[in-house]
Amino acid sequence: METKLFESLPFVQDILSHPAFNTLKNFAHHGTISCYQHTIAVAQLAYQLSRLLHLDYIAATRGALLHDFYMYNWRTGGPRLHGLRHPHIALNNAAKHFDISKKEKDIILKHMWPLTPIPPRYGESWVVTFVDKIVSLSDYARVIKDKMAAVNIYFYHKLNKLWRAIAPFQSEQ
Ligand SMILES: [Fe+2]
Ligand SMILES: [Fe+2]
Repeated sequence: METKLFESLPFVQDILSHPAFNTLKNFAHHGTISCYQHTIAVAQLAYQLSRLLHLDYIAATRGALLHDFYMYNWRTGGPRLHGLRHPHIALNNAAKHFDISKKEKDIILKHMWPLTPIPPRYGESWVVTFVDKIVSLSDYARVIKDKMAAVNIYFYHKLNKLWRAIAPFQSEQ
C-alpha cells in the first residue's frame, strides 16, 4: 500500500516494523484518515522534497514518520490542548522506542509551528513543517470530498424516489 516507496529504504525499517508505530493504524487523525496513513504521506513527501533540496533526507523521513507518534484518538481522548502538547508526547514516545538524532528531535518538536512558538531549527524541520500542512489540507479536502459524495448519494436517492412517484402520472400524458 502506501509504504511501497519505503520497502527498499533501510533507514525506516526499524520504525515501520515496530508494533508501537503500527498502532497508529488504529487512531483516526483527520476524518477517516488514520494517523498511520497521514504520517506515511508526510514522510513520503518529506523524503522526496528533502532529496530534491539536497538535505538530510534520512532525518527528514524518520522525523516525519514520528512527528505525530502520540498513540491516542485526539478527538475522543488524550490531553487537553492536544495541538500544543502532542509534539512533546510524540517526542517522548519516539525517544522511548527508537534511536533518534538531534535533527529528528527538532523535526518532531517543531512541526506544529507557528501554533507552537519556537520555529524549526533545521532545513529538514522546515520541510516537515511545510509538508505536514500540505498533507493535512489534502486530508481535509478528501474528508470534504467524501462528505459531498455522501450528500450526492442522499439527494440521488431522494430524486429517484420522487421520480418513481411522479413517473406513472407522466406516462399517462
Ligand atoms: Fe502533529
Ligand atoms: Fe501531522
